[in-house]
Amino acid sequence: MPLILDGNATSKAVLEQIAKDYDRIKAKGLKPGLAVVLVGDDPASIVYVGRKKKACESLGFYSEEHRLPKETLETTLLQLIQTLNSDPKINGILVQLPLPGHLNPQKIIEAIDPRKDVDGMHPFSLGKLVAGLPGPRSCTPAGVMALLDHYKIPVAGKRAVVIGRSIMVGKPMAQLLVEANATVTICHSKTQKIGEVIHEADLVVAAIGKPRFVKADMVKEGAVVVDVGINRMPDGKLAGDVDFEAVAPKASAITPVPGGVGPMTIALLMRNTYEAFIQQTSL
Ligand code: GUN
Repeated sequence: MPLILDGNATSKAVLEQIAKDYDRIKAKGLKPGLAVVLVGDDPASIVYVGRKKKACESLGFYSEEHRLPKETLETTLLQLIQTLNSDPKINGILVQLPLPGHLNPQKIIEAIDPRKDVDGMHPFSLGKLVAGLPGPRSCTPAGVMALLDHYKIPVAGKRAVVIGRSIMVGKPMAQLLVEANATVTICHSKTQKIGEVIHEADLVVAAIGKPRFVKADMVKEGAVVVDVGINRMPDGKLAGDVDFEAVAPKASAITPVPGGVGPMTIALLMRNTYEAFIQQTSL
């Protein structure tokens, strides 16, 4: 059986390191502060936002949750972001996605002060990523890299295939892998012979939002398989983008869903919030 990449255990290690770093400056009496904005009542988003708040509490960070009704006007949301941009208690702002259809996520993300962009999705942060400059990295791709790093899984020189090209996961994921000296291919819904492309990979990162899309015959023997997907099935159970039962016996290492990438996203959000706080307070 493959090595199971345990995101619960690894995220704890990341959070413990943040707690240690924070301990050294706690005496100064300042607190990292995160504002999470949720528009609407998507059940999955409510769960994720709750976890982010809990992670803040357990580190002793300040957090605010702003829950707005799903019919919230763009101007109202933009005003809230402006208020948070100029609030000194707040070091990081996260607008939970997806937003209701009438709100343009790009416009909303661009309204966030790039110094407070703990999600790494502002064009300024994405530009820094592509330029190889320090800056906040998207939490999920950064979480995947931290997980691979924790298990000392080599990336340099490997063939990596990222399935999905979103701003939140696919594109920054591919870029982080390039930075780590992998040879990277991005696949998406228009990719021809996608199974054959995935089969070339030493490392597969699945982030397409299609339950159990990656089948055993698509995966090379011994590949490392990272599953970013979280799909709620009609029976209420969670399924990733990888057919875990079928793929696991072929993989050398694989992430479970849940308990794989999900907790890493939260841990890296806390890391980004802490870094934003350090930058803004010049500690
Ligand atoms: N929705 C699901 N995951 C995320 C995330 O990491 N950030 C934001 N903003 N929205 C999400």
